[in-house]
Amino acid sequence: MEFSIKSGSPEKQRSACIVVGVFQPRKLSESAEVIDQSAKQYLSDLVRRGDMEGKAGSTLLLHNVPGTLSDRVLLVGLGKEKEFREKEYRNAIATAVRTLNETGGFDGTIFLTELPVKKRDVTWRIRQATIIALETLYRFDQLKSKKEDVRRPLRKLTFCVARRSELPAAELALAEGQAIADGQKLMKDLANLPGNYCTPTYLAEQAQVLAKEFGLGIEVLERADMEKLGMNTLLAVAQGSRQPPKFIVLKYQGGKPDAKPIVLVGKGVTFDTGGISLKPPSEMDEMKYDMSGAASVFGTLKATALMKLPLNVIGVVPTTENMPGGGAIKPGDVVTSMSGQTVEILNTDAEGRLILCDALTYVERFSPDCVVDIATLTGACVVALGSVVSGLFANNDGLARELLDAGQNAYDRAWQLPLWDDYQEQLKSNFADMANIGTRMGGAITAACFLARYTSKFEWAHLDVAGTAYRGGEKKGSTGRPVPLLTHFLLGRTEAVQREAKKSRNQKKKA
Ligand code: BES
Ligand code: MN
Ligand code: ZN
Repeated sequence: MEFSIKSGSPEKQRSACIVVGVFQPRKLSESAEVIDQSAKQYLSDLVRRGDMEGKAGSTLLLHNVPGTLSDRVLLVGLGKEKEFREKEYRNAIATAVRTLNETGGFDGTIFLTELPVKKRDVTWRIRQATIIALETLYRFDQLKSKKEDVRRPLRKLTFCVARRSELPAAELALAEGQAIADGQKLMKDLANLPGNYCTPTYLAEQAQVLAKEFGLGIEVLERADMEKLGMNTLLAVAQGSRQPPKFIVLKYQGGKPDAKPIVLVGKGVTFDTGGISLKPPSEMDEMKYDMSGAASVFGTLKATALMKLPLNVIGVVPTTENMPGGGAIKPGDVVTSMSGQTVEILNTDAEGRLILCDALTYVERFSPDCVVDIATLTGACVVALGSVVSGLFANNDGLARELLDAGQNAYDRAWQLPLWDDYQEQLKSNFADMANIGTRMGGAITAACFLARYTSKFEWAHLDVAGTAYRGGEKKGSTGRPVPLLTHFLLGRTEAVQREAKKSRNQKKKA
């Protein structure tokens, strides 16, 4: 898709279709008013006759509207003006793009990006519009022998801004939005790929591709390397599988050489059967998404590299299958993790924490500025929060705040849950330093508490994305979350770096 930004009046655009909004009930938006005037009340007549109420999600496609230079005008219902907020804005853009794509014109000029959204500026509106547009057009048909092609697909989108002075900010926001959407697409493609294609070896290969494309540093540890390091809880999960595990490290160096890295750790279970503690059959296919954390790390690194952020970011992905078999771990087995702490594996289906704990110990060597792990870790998190927000845990309030804010800005939200010591009691074991499960109560929290035992040396946050990373049912598919949250977090860190640089420049000037 080709994108551009423009500022100008709607009736003068030469386009296959221009898109303007109508509020409920029957109130033309500003750009619709402008068209209406040059069209001698064509739109207001239509609206008065009841052809367009302005209901959210409704559309009306008009051809050869007098007084305009475009082939078509698409009216998009926006709902009540007073209730027009972030979600409504996003939905309006999605409706516009979907309709444009089905309409048959090659290009569209969208004026909805001029609509005021409370507390949000032009940067937010353009970034979001870009992300939503690409999200709306995303398809995963790699594995279909016959692709359902749209007959005349949309090729070019123009977003309009109200003032010329907004153009520079809008151009930057467009580039950022495209990078984020590209990262999200990478995540979705990897996560949607089934377990027989997307194995640990495949993820390692894709990491190589990414490293080559963007000049990232890369290291892939093999089973023997992990044995030397003592990553025994990771290896314990892998021992039931015929697929060899991989431990992937990707380094993006956009910051000063001495700047401490932000480390992202992603759970990469390419298929989670539960192991000997086998899962029930219904919806087990969805456990191909158990590498969504890993995919989000790759996606975020790609977006970061595309935006050339002035940060050092390291992505770490422990990846394996979780399978039953003659060689698999058994409930009750005790294993010594890389940290030296011993773990009694009471349930082989609580495997995510077992691979993450060794990864979290491993990243100590980077002296990280902070560590964020991303994992489809617990069904309990889905029970607690549903699919609207991700679960957030942190051993540092500042870091938690930053991630919550990033989620708000990205409209990819998270909600903080407690990490209090009181919950640690559930992990007591009679035979090892800790068990890998607690009781049925507070399962998302005890899982996070388990990880907390491996993260005392740095600022750390944990995102449980079991409910948000993919959808089940009819709309089954990866959502690309939390790539928007993570990239907005890094954009926030970038602003901080730039503020610091400016401050020190000013200090030098004074001296
Ligand atoms: N990958 C699952 C968590 C999961 C469940 C993600 C449902 C998405 C949807 C994880 O490895 C797991 O099986 N967790 C267990 C932990 C339990 C045994 C303590 C769970 O949530 O049931
Ligand atoms: Mn599991
Ligand atoms: Zn799992």
